[in-house]
Amino acid sequence: GLALLGGLVSLVLLEIFRLNSLRSRNPPGPKPLLFVGNMPQFMKDRMALIRSMPKYGEMCTVYLGRKPMIVLNSVQIAKEAFIQNGTIFSGRPIMPVTRWINKGYGIVMATYGNSWRQQRRFALHTLRDFGLGKKSVEERVAEEARYLIKEMLKQEGKAFYPSHPIMNSVSNIICSIVFGDRFEYDDRRFAKLLEIINENIRFLGSPVSQVFNLIPFIKHFRGPHQKFWHNVHSLKKFIFEEMEEHKKTLDPENLRDFIDAYLVEMIKQEANEDSTFHEENMVRSTIDLFIAGTETTANTLRWGLIYMMDHPDVQERCHEEIVRVLGFDRFPSMDDRAKLPYTLATVHEIQRYANIVPLGVLHETTQATKLRGYHLPQGTIVMPNLTAIMADKDHWKYPNTFNPENFLDEKGQFCKNDSFLPFSLGPRVCLGETLARTELFIFFTSLIQRLKFSWPLGAPPSDTYGVVGAVRSNLPFKTICRSRETMH
Ligand code: HEM
Repeated sequence: GLALLGGLVSLVLLEIFRLNSLRSRNPPGPKPLLFVGNMPQFMKDRMALIRSMPKYGEMCTVYLGRKPMIVLNSVQIAKEAFIQNGTIFSGRPIMPVTRWINKGYGIVMATYGNSWRQQRRFALHTLRDFGLGKKSVEERVAEEARYLIKEMLKQEGKAFYPSHPIMNSVSNIICSIVFGDRFEYDDRRFAKLLEIINENIRFLGSPVSQVFNLIPFIKHFRGPHQKFWHNVHSLKKFIFEEMEEHKKTLDPENLRDFIDAYLVEMIKQEANEDSTFHEENMVRSTIDLFIAGTETTANTLRWGLIYMMDHPDVQERCHEEIVRVLGFDRFPSMDDRAKLPYTLATVHEIQRYANIVPLGVLHETTQATKLRGYHLPQGTIVMPNLTAIMADKDHWKYPNTFNPENFLDEKGQFCKNDSFLPFSLGPRVCLGETLARTELFIFFTSLIQRLKFSWPLGAPPSDTYGVVGAVRSNLPFKTICRSRETMH
């Protein structure tokens, strides 16, 4: 008994010593507990913890578990790290969960290096070019917006959950880029695909995945994580089936989609020993486009509806501007942005205020470095505090309220803001930024042109906190839409 007590005491003393020495070397931050660090505060109220970080300075440290993580709280220091020292700050830590499923392949969680660089560049080019074939990406989005409006109008005047039609339409954009075609909203195979993707996104932000990262050997045992593994396999199977179908009808002179382009690239690079274009990477990159490119945009659009119902005056001003410039019939295009400054400002403000990736995605230093006098060893985890940057009172007129004036000058013209960083920055900046901006602008403007959204009678007050995992999502809510045409 005495020996056990002695052992425990020395373990605690060792941990006190370790933590003190870490804290003396790293930037200040909220006080960590022994062994678990700031995990309890993080679990209890993550947004409160994230918002409190700037009070420790531009650079602070949190301990999620025992490892220090450096958080950058201002746009200046974020640029200094992620842009001016982009190659040093663009690594990704390999978490056990990601090692389990992707071995460092794909794009989002890929190790910084040749494979990531090639896959990213290829995906960027293909996203830009698809429509290579018949339709531009923008046309595909505009077409899908029409389906979305039609789908919503089926429920006109009734309270309904908008999340399904929104997720379907956003996912269809990726589907048509990757697989060459959209799905009907009631297609069973499509429904199954979306369900799997959603489940896995939820898993990645859940406590189960954090437990997995702490004790990865649970992969050998039964538990909720097995569902995640099973889902990854179903996704892979889905993509392999699509790939086999594509191989049968492939025409290198007439590429239809991402998979076609990938198959051709694989053949082109066959002789190249360093080629990273193989089936494993194709499947991973495709899954990444789905995981990173569906729920993010859908979630932002849902926050947009919430803010429009909470601020009917903003909704009316957008609608009036859109109808004044486009009328009721002409569908919006990206070229119309310059003529729709108030609507454009509103779309930006929705993204700023929705703040759906509050701490960005984890980065890791690829070599030892110094930042503002602090020594950061190779492998230090660094995160941009997008929440603090997008609510920095030195950079925003109305940091803590929803107000499109944040993006308008005195003359009512749209003005950019350096601290608008929903897509993060540097070499790892969101690969889908252009696509996401196109989707948000075209979907939002088309919806507000044709429909008016309001809360159902007796709806509970809107929840502005949401659920915060890796992504800040809203809780399910119902809306009522009315056709502007019938209203007129
Ligand atoms: C990465 C935000 C939509 C694909 C990221 C990152 C953020 C982000 C914050 C992390 C960047 C970093 O590591 O510093 C968003 C938001 C979106 C959105 C707010 C929508 C509103 C999309 C779409 C796609 C996409 C539509 C795909 C077509 C990716 C990929 C990465 C990424 C592949 C990983 C990039 C890399 O590691 O090199 N996104 N994203 N995202 N996003 Fe997005």
